Amino acid sequence: MNLLILGRGKTGSLVAEVAAKRMHTVRTAGSKENSACAALTPEKLRDIDVVIDFTGPHCVVAHIEACVRAGKNMVVGTTGWHGELDRVRRFVEEHKTGFVYATNFSVGVNLFFDVARSAAAALRHNYSGQIFERHHVHKKDAPSGTALTIQRIVREASGQNDDLEITSFREGEVVGLHELVLESANDRIYLCHDAKSRRAFAEGAVLAAEWIAGKKSFYDFKDVWREL
Ligand SMILES: NC(=O)c1ccc[n+]([C@@H]2O[C@H](COP(=O)([O-])OP(=O)(O)OC[C@H]3O[C@@H](n4cnc5c(N)ncnc54)[C@H](OP(=O)(O)O)[C@@H]3O)[C@@H](O)[C@H]2O)c1
Repeated sequence: MNLLILGRGKTGSLVAEVAAKRMHTVRTAGSKENSACAALTPEKLRDIDVVIDFTGPHCVVAHIEACVRAGKNMVVGTTGWHGELDRVRRFVEEHKTGFVYATNFSVGVNLFFDVARSAAAALRHNYSGQIFERHHVHKKDAPSGTALTIQRIVREASGQNDDLEITSFREGEVVGLHELVLESANDRIYLCHDAKSRRAFAEGAVLAAEWIAGKKSFYDFKDVWREL
């Protein structure tokens, strides 16, 4: 496939590396060449099969609008924009393009989401819950999108809406650590996912791009990763 990767930062550059290893033709664009979506005109996107975005919350929605308007399928890993999810979903559906997004493209984290969903039953049995997340000091959003997803999953699965506070730590170069702690008067359950490198995000994003090619709908990676 011909892939355009937006963002040449910590994650985007790894996505480019993984995609090239999987024999895709890769073009990349950083903030300079893509100022005001300059790299996302219909002409520039003509040969592109899927656009993958790992940029920032300030620009990602404009990227989505430009790519979807040009009829291009997308994989969006950038976080910090999910307040606009419903509007973006309608936009994608109106334009009949394919779209996969995730707060976390790691298969391990998506398995962790399933474990958290199952453990959520504790909140109906006199447990209280807390979420802790640790990331590197350069991370722009807090709490992390992944922590917010864990919170939403546990709330939905338990039917309990209060409680479940998220505490964020920013230190050093931590790739991403998420803990769900469930505590009762009698015991404490710790669930923890600790990312060792960003490669899992990059591999998941490239697999998602391969999967979404030719499809026309709006998907959350957590619902489709088992099919990849
Ligand atoms: N879903 C997941 O699995 C997952 C995993 C990791 C990270 N993320 C998210 O992905 C995003 C990027 O993370 P990161 O750690 O890779 O950040 P990063 O190292 O800061 O990289 C972001 C890159 O985006 C570029 N950029 C900014 N505006 C742009 C634009 N308009 N067009 C093209 N490129 C632009 C920046 O380029 P300049 O430096 O030239 O400005 C920078 O290289 C964040 O939102 C993060 O939370 C998601």
